[in-house]
Amino acid sequence: MNIKIADLEFEPFISGEAIQARIKEIAAELNADYADKTPIFVGVLNGCFMFMADLVRHMNIPCEVAFTRLSSYHGGVTSSRKISHDLELLVDIANRHIIIAEDIVDTGNTLDYLVDKLKERNPASITVCALLLKPDAIEYSIEELTHVAFQIPNEFVVGYGLDYMELGRNLEGIYRRVV
Ligand code: IMP
Repeated sequence: MNIKIADLEFEPFISGEAIQARIKEIAAELNADYADKTPIFVGVLNGCFMFMADLVRHMNIPCEVAFTRLSSYHGGVTSSRKISHDLELLVDIANRHIIIAEDIVDTGNTLDYLVDKLKERNPASITVCALLLKPDAIEYSIEELTHVAFQIPNEFVVGYGLDYMELGRNLEGIYRRVV
């Protein structure tokens, strides 16, 4: 069923069940890859909160979680390219294995910035898991981006942590804008 959020209409795109199934697969890969390590999952708020929670729920190795904030959309439907905050991360990541849990990679600007900032703190390694990737929108080559749950067209989506005007984050599935 289509839904309305503020002034825009959205249609169902990726179901909650499909999201959970892909997250289980990605977690299984991470459990194997980090079997002898204690990684720190790093998430960018607010968008990552559901993905992070569901992903770490399936981890059966010791792991930590940490959150930071960066934003380039400011309520609209296109990326503004300006990152509004410097990186605030209250955990020492030197010599630690970092797994970034990213909600969506659009132009890649946010992720590229985050990876660069984290590298300055000398982690042992960085891997990125993204729930969604828009391959037609990405403008950066980010070699750390090794796990992607879904590749989607260059369309605006909401739900499962992602917002339009701060609304829609609570939806269980992903919806796309009807244009
Ligand atoms: P990027 O820096 O252009 O890759 O944009 C990344 C950020 O923009 C994401 O972390 C989201 O907060 C936001 N964003 C990008 N595409 C969408 C979308 O389709 N819906 C909602 N937010 C989006």
